[in-house]
Amino acid sequence: MTTFQAEIFNKKPSDPKNKPDQIIKALALRQGQSIVDIGSGGGYFSLRFAKIVGEKGRVYAVDTNQKFIDFISQRAREKKLNNIYPILAREDRLDLQEQSLDVIFMRNITHHLSNRTQYFVNLKGFLKPDGKIIIIDYKPSKSFNFSGMFGHHVAKETIIQEMEDAGYSLEKDFDFLSKQHFTLYSIP
Ligand SMILES: C[S@@+](CC[C@H](N)C(=O)[O-])C[C@H]1O[C@@H](n2cnc3c(N)ncnc32)[C@H](O)[C@@H]1O
Repeated sequence: MTTFQAEIFNKKPSDPKNKPDQIIKALALRQGQSIVDIGSGGGYFSLRFAKIVGEKGRVYAVDTNQKFIDFISQRAREKKLNNIYPILAREDRLDLQEQSLDVIFMRNITHHLSNRTQYFVNLKGFLKPDGKIIIIDYKPSKSFNFSGMFGHHVAKETIIQEMEDAGYSLEKDFDFLSKQHFTLYSIP
């Protein structure tokens, strides 16, 4: 993957139409927190999170694509962000320290997961007791667009049910994104 291709990949999340500033505000991140961005892609959100959590915080940028991992590593070096830890993950699981995370962030990735409920169960071990999981994904659509044509979507009700089955409670349901749902969960 060239830098140019990865930059293109970052165009969508950074587009003001997709409300990245509002998403970040809703997360209410604080300095010193640890967050994982699962399916980090070109790293648009990981890089922004790194600035917010600061030197005492940590951002794990996790993806199954080595080229994205290399790109994020390069970007972090260029921007002198020493708190980003790019990690190549397997499709069905990731290895992080137990009870180490304040926030797990997943944007436009849950539709890729084959056994979501089990994946969500596995994530629980990485969260601190008061940790949160944020899930943003495309709403089902029959429109003639990328997510509609390629099945890159999952219904909000499906995600809520699967997260409840995995042992989480829905805490917030944000409705300011037009094409995506955005929900936040905690461990009861
Ligand atoms: C549509 S992109 C979203 C990128 C980024 N989250 C964003 O919002 O711009 C989905 C990303 O998830 C990655 N991915 C797919 N399956 C994955 C898995 N099981 N674990 C981690 N990353 C995965 C892909 O390589 C890709 O970079």
